Amino acid sequence: MKRVLSGIQPSGQLTLGNYIGAMKNFVELQHSHQCYFMVVDHHAITVPQKPEALKEQTESVAALFIAAGIDPNKASVFLQSHVPAHTELGWLITTIAYMGELERMTQFKDKSAGKESVGAGLFVYPALMAADILLYNADLVPVGDDQKQHLELTRDVAHRFNQRYGETFRVPEPYIPQVGARIMSLDDASKKMSKSNPNPGSFIALLDPPDVIRKKISRAVTDSGREVKFDPENKPEVSNLMGIYSHCSDLSLQEIEAKYEGQGYGSFKKDLAEQVVATLEPIQQRYNEIRSSGAIYDILKKGAREASVIANATLNEAKQKMGFILPQ
Ligand code: TYM
Repeated sequence: MKRVLSGIQPSGQLTLGNYIGAMKNFVELQHSHQCYFMVVDHHAITVPQKPEALKEQTESVAALFIAAGIDPNKASVFLQSHVPAHTELGWLITTIAYMGELERMTQFKDKSAGKESVGAGLFVYPALMAADILLYNADLVPVGDDQKQHLELTRDVAHRFNQRYGETFRVPEPYIPQVGARIMSLDDASKKMSKSNPNPGSFIALLDPPDVIRKKISRAVTDSGREVKFDPENKPEVSNLMGIYSHCSDLSLQEIEAKYEGQGYGSFKKDLAEQVVATLEPIQQRYNEIRSSGAIYDILKKGAREASVIANATLNEAKQKMGFILPQ
């Protein structure tokens, strides 16, 4: 079976962008692949986090994985910090990745822009992400479009390591949805929908109550026309909403265009809100059950045990090839 690995940061509320860009594919791939899905808590601290909030968010994201449909008997679900091989290989990778490569990462440029002081961890973050993936010799990495550049770097680093020290790491491929790889903000279709946007009206959180979802969608920005048509260049706002509709309904973009032909945006937006509510309500219900049962801790323990077996074996192989003496 081919291997899959991916992760999500516990750095704020998960959004519909995280669900459509990544989690939905996690759920799909678990049926045909050996899957490892983790909450990347070490990544979250590359920007300042309040300890209590980090704890709450970490448990919340893990519970959302299960609520969204990941079956812990099919996939290993764990916290990055529970498998120390990640930070150890991450360090080794910082010696393989070049400063120039890290300086080119657009996420680093965005997150550090205008800040007086930036932690060094934010700069070396892509080396840790590469380690996350290479530890499992993952074939596929389901992510949204914004992680493509980090995946390219991971591939370059894997090639370089293999050339320098001998064949060690599998070179992974990104697995990106055709529609919805970049869900945009509801208030500005030139910006990615993001959990860190200070305007909560710009994103739909997976845990937003139905009435909040309805309100946010009714206020979502559209152009001044009335044609429901998929045309990302000329109608970015409506095209973004259509992508969301398609993912929440399983209607194709063409079917959505046909359904709302000649009707304007009103009924389209109303139906879209109901589709999103119908997608998120069962997830929210399961989420509440999982949080109140406390079952997540056993799931994470089992996941970390399973992940450690693979991760430790790869780490030891990499260290041996580099010339480290392994403990006897
Ligand atoms: P993060 O936590 O920012 O986002 C998690 C996943 O959600 C996707 N995503 C989106 N997809 C479509 N539209 C959006 N608006 C949107 N916003 C977020 C992201 O592309 C991502 O797939 N560096 C990663 C986490 C990470 C990781 C890894 C991923 C760490 N190690 C190893 C894969 C493999 C990140 O910050 O994702």
